[in-house]
Amino acid sequence: MLILAIESSCDDTAAAVLEPENRVRSSVVSSQNEIHARFGGIVPELASRRHIEMIRPVVDEALAQAGVGLDDIDLIAATRGPGLVGSLLVGFTFAKALALVRGLPCVGVDHMAGHLLSCLLENPQPAFPYTALIVSGGNTSLFAVDDPLTFTRLGRTRDDAAGEAFDKVAKLLGLGYPGGPAISHLAADGDPAAIAFPRARLGEDSLDFSFSGLKTSVAAHVDGQRRSGAPLAVADICASFQEAVVDVLADKTLAAAERTGHRRVVLGGGVAANPRLRAVLAERCAARGFKLFLPAPALCTDNAAMIGLAGYYRFLAGQLAAADTDAYSRSPLN
Ligand code: KG4
Repeated sequence: MLILAIESSCDDTAAAVLEPENRVRSSVVSSQNEIHARFGGIVPELASRRHIEMIRPVVDEALAQAGVGLDDIDLIAATRGPGLVGSLLVGFTFAKALALVRGLPCVGVDHMAGHLLSCLLENPQPAFPYTALIVSGGNTSLFAVDDPLTFTRLGRTRDDAAGEAFDKVAKLLGLGYPGGPAISHLAADGDPAAIAFPRARLGEDSLDFSFSGLKTSVAAHVDGQRRSGAPLAVADICASFQEAVVDVLADKTLAAAERTGHRRVVLGGGVAANPRLRAVLAERCAARGFKLFLPAPALCTDNAAMIGLAGYYRFLAGQLAAADTDAYSRSPLN
């Protein structure tokens, strides 16, 4: 069986061709970073217009790289939500229309489900059940994953997502968009203990997150330094901010795994590409006897391969999309 998968939930137009269970034949991602960089964040209207321009070439490229044509495709999977509705509608409508004219089954996939299963595209794969931290520009949530269709949310951010905090702090420091890679790069030369930024624990038993106080604290620090005329120690600010985010993410993930009793921990989402988060989680999981599964950075950030895999399981369960199935902006999983 060959699956054509499409992802357009935010600012990347992506398509992939894969064979279940875990053979990715091609995975193409067209980034819009240069369009949104000067605004310091994503402009939804510009994102959906760019998806319209890119969807066809990206799908063609994914088919070409896989060495197949539309005649070889057996199933079409596309992200149905959550995300920017204008962006989602481009990919999802394209997928449904293509399925309709080709007489193929089509499945609508939850973007979060894609992130939760992306580690299954790696070798070795984690066995079920596992505890997963999904941390991106739009989400920061912990889940218990019992099987490819059963996800139970254990905690989530009460305000900003961790990636959003990276992006906002980067904007404050004039580092451009997306902020995560720029901050993690600069943080490598900074002192993580230079500035004691706050960690929001939200109570002993809480598996929720909060990053807006941290963001405000960085803004107050930067403002204070600028007012006093002192030079900004940008690398130290980046390292100290990153450490505060990573510390809380790692702590809560380990607490979630202790609570579920799972021995396997999985990471997903764009911020999962952060080298410091990967290193700290690896260290703490090893110390507590958990096995950690880290997808390659290209599978952490938005991609269509993970949507194809999640779509395959929905297809097996008979959960097909109809021509009038709508996109949604908020995930029922979250
Ligand atoms: O999953 P993703 O590609 O898109 C969604 O938000 O769904 O994640 C993008 C987010 C952005 O906020 C970006 O700043 C962050 O992931 N990110 C990182 C790193 N690479 C990407 N954050 C921290 N460190 C990184 N190395």
